[in-house]
Amino acid sequence: MENHIEKIQKYLHNGRTEDMDNRIEGLRKYIDEILINMNDTQERRCGYLHLYGVSQACAMIALKRNQDVELATIAGMLHDLYSYKAMNTENHTEHSAVLARQILEELSLTTDNETDLICSAIRNHSSKATTHSAFDEVLKDADVLQHCLYNPLFPVMEHEKCRFQNLLTEFGISPTL
Ligand SMILES: [Fe+2]
Repeated sequence: MENHIEKIQKYLHNGRTEDMDNRIEGLRKYIDEILINMNDTQERRCGYLHLYGVSQACAMIALKRNQDVELATIAGMLHDLYSYKAMNTENHTEHSAVLARQILEELSLTTDNETDLICSAIRNHSSKATTHSAFDEVLKDADVLQHCLYNPLFPVMEHEKCRFQNLLTEFGISPTL
């Protein structure tokens, strides 16, 4: 039976094994275990789509803004995990930040400074109307980007229009909403 990493290696790298066992994949393996054990199949689908989607959008935006792409990708994977794990969105930013710290410490994945950076971004990610640190802003914008690009034919939600328009401009895309 192939393990998780071997399957991804085949999918992405024609079976090559080098360079695949990094912190991002270590964390994803842990998160996949949580998601795959969710009983609600629709919520499980949302969990995979949103956490992986935001994680990839974080990578894109962090690259563009010269922010730490590895830590941003990790923050995206963790940012709403509590909501899916507990099936409860109440105060989910604080709960997800606490859960993220617990997981990062359990896996000994990050330094204290890295953990603080990631947890700050998760704690602040719902405050879309205000501006926090450059790293925090990567996660907020990635959250918006995943929502808006899930189905580009869906109307953009009112409270996400401004950030989405700014992202299109930042990436040199001209259509206005
Ligand atoms: Fe989110």
